[in-house]
Amino acid sequence: MTTVPETWSIGSVLRWATEDFARRGLARPRLEAELLLGHVLGVDRVRLVIDADRPLRPDELGSFREVILRRRRGEPVAYIRGEREFYGRRFVVDRRVLVPRPETETLVEVALERTRERSLFGRALDLCTGSGCVAVTFALERPTWKITASDLSADAIDVAAHNAERLGALFGMRFLVGDLFAPLAKEARFELVTANPPYIPAKEIATLDRDVRDFEPRLALDGGEDGLAIIRRIVSGARAHLAPGGVLALEVGHDQAERVHALLAEHGYTEIQRRRDYAGYERIVSARAPGSDPA
Ligand SMILES: C[S@@+](CC[C@H](N)C(=O)[O-])C[C@H]1O[C@@H](n2cnc3c(N)ncnc32)[C@H](O)[C@@H]1O
Repeated sequence: MTTVPETWSIGSVLRWATEDFARRGLARPRLEAELLLGHVLGVDRVRLVIDADRPLRPDELGSFREVILRRRRGEPVAYIRGEREFYGRRFVVDRRVLVPRPETETLVEVALERTRERSLFGRALDLCTGSGCVAVTFALERPTWKITASDLSADAIDVAAHNAERLGALFGMRFLVGDLFAPLAKEARFELVTANPPYIPAKEIATLDRDVRDFEPRLALDGGEDGLAIIRRIVSGARAHLAPGGVLALEVGHDQAERVHALLAEHGYTEIQRRRDYAGYERIVSARAPGSDPA
């Protein structure tokens, strides 16, 4: 740290950290400073405003200094805090899983909307589940459905199952480790298949922000040469596991929606729809497997 005044209050240390983060080019310096200080003090952001004049004890200041150094080295705020909010709930995260992103909430919204006609009972499969944010959220929004969450990474499945337990979603869920559809029984059928798969073209990974490139699991990012390697396998493999009229909903890269739309059409899916995320990118592509209407 630079010059240190005699005593720091919550308000003054927040101003200092915000300026420090802004100088280093972080996109949301004030928010990040508040999230990190709140984490160190074990309080929420409203409390930081109310107690802005409270002086920090030396141990609190020391702990805040440590997390500032970690953030300066690029570690994402969510890993430092050990949690990230998704769809209004707090998910535990660490370096074994991708940090849930706001655009993935749109995947949940599309999945809920497109299965509304059979909201009372259904079976859902969330591939590439990572922290379990999509599967667990869906399970909580549709408590009478049976949910299967799977991932190639056994570490990720540990995190997902932990989140399901903490958030009270474990009942009605099961967790599988393996490559896409491989861990499923041949006859397993679902009314909904969701996935936020790895979709970054391999050669672009080196150009990503340091926070992502150096800290998030490569397995969660790498979509092969053109980014669509896993998506292609999901689109073709899901046909065998979707019940007639079942829905496939995928999150895709910001410039991939058109290609994924064409891919779904090629494989005979119907009612193909593209949904924009909060940032305006066509981010979620969904479609129905041919067959009788599930309603
Ligand atoms: C982009 S992350 C998505 C995580 C989470 N669903 C989310 O939205 O935050 C992709 C996940 O796919 C998993 N994955 C990568 N290749 C896979 C494969 N061949 N089969 C199953 N899962 C895979 C990774 O381990 C990672 O957890």
